[in-house]
Amino acid sequence: MSKIAYLNASQIVTMRGGARKGLAMNDIGILPKGNAIVTDGERICFVGQQEEALRISDSTVDCTDCVLMPAFIDSHTHLVFGGYRENEFNMRLNGADYMEIMQSGGGINATVRATRATSEAELSAKSRKLLCECMRYGVGTVEIKSGYGLDCDNEIKQLDVIESLRKTEDISIVSTFMGAHATPDEYGKNVDAYAEFLVECVLPRIASRCADNPRYAEFCDVFCEKGVFSHEQTIKILECGKQYGLKPKMHADEMMDMSSAALAAKLGCVSADHLLHTGAEGIEALSRSDTVATLLPLTAFSLCESFANARGMVDGGCCVALASDLNPGSCFSNSIPLLIALSTIYMKLTVNETLCALTANAAKALNLSDRGSLEVGKRADLLLLDCDNVNFLSYHFGNNFAKSLIIGGKKVY
Ligand code: NIG
Ligand code: FE
Repeated sequence: MSKIAYLNASQIVTMRGGARKGLAMNDIGILPKGNAIVTDGERICFVGQQEEALRISDSTVDCTDCVLMPAFIDSHTHLVFGGYRENEFNMRLNGADYMEIMQSGGGINATVRATRATSEAELSAKSRKLLCECMRYGVGTVEIKSGYGLDCDNEIKQLDVIESLRKTEDISIVSTFMGAHATPDEYGKNVDAYAEFLVECVLPRIASRCADNPRYAEFCDVFCEKGVFSHEQTIKILECGKQYGLKPKMHADEMMDMSSAALAAKLGCVSADHLLHTGAEGIEALSRSDTVATLLPLTAFSLCESFANARGMVDGGCCVALASDLNPGSCFSNSIPLLIALSTIYMKLTVNETLCALTANAAKALNLSDRGSLEVGKRADLLLLDCDNVNFLSYHFGNNFAKSLIIGGKKVY
């Protein structure tokens, strides 16, 4: 196995120590010029002085005038879907409301109809393009949720597509079952009956696939919101998922404060996501828990909503992650440069906090302890940025600085 030394970077962002809460998110472990990383195949085997790196390596990569950092991790997407909803986007530009569109038969159910009508091959081809976009932004790991099938066969079809992409694509993919994304048309307004169907029929079938392949679906997520799934229904579905080994996640407090952040903490969710309306009590509950607060500013931007109280969450001691929420409805964007601009300029997170939220803390939101930082033993998921220091990511906002991406030791571009 050949050992490769990455030399001469202006800064190496190590993110050493991995995920962290609160103001410690600013300590991103930057090493100045004169330091290097050495990889041995899939893993990092050395972090430290350049002379020593040169001595132990077989080949070198010159990173002059660049920043070397852990690859980004996008811990929340709905990347596999049929059709598009640009018509709804235009309706919203003309004043229509996201939840009203959803309640009148559009929204998630429009994508469910399109996804059911799309073959696995077509879904894969379309998703592959989006995954390439992710990698061009420097993303090395992406989470993808089901939730546009909403019946046994179509949820499995979506998860099968995710599984096949995991085998063929360079980017690492984590899979989440989200049958509780909406109630499909055939159940009308009978959310209870659909929740019962998920627990009695769909989850057992997903679980039987997971028994052979635990990565088939690692998490179970619920869109817990007024008019979507109640606290009671959320608890029922997530507890059932837990029995099958699916770790819980929640879309929480997106449209109003339903104290869902506190519920996520109580249920031991790995992450609570969105949190646009989470108040002081929710922040306090999250800060005392092991639940990651995952914020999705591209969605707030797309919906013209105010942003989550990111500053309050970091100051209050939460473990904050940032992700794209890429989906065909509320947020058709996976732009890391725009996400960083919103996080730093509007949400008032520092650049360091933002980078921590997109790497180490995002790894925690996916229960991954092998990545998110550049430390000996971690995966060689490296990103080279074409800038002299990390502040340029916000200062020269909107620019894509990703120059070279290495995933599991393999150079992707
Ligand atoms: O995370 N909030 C619920 N689900 C997605 C939206 C999906 C859609 O509109 O298709 C979200 O924003
Ligand atoms: Fe989402």
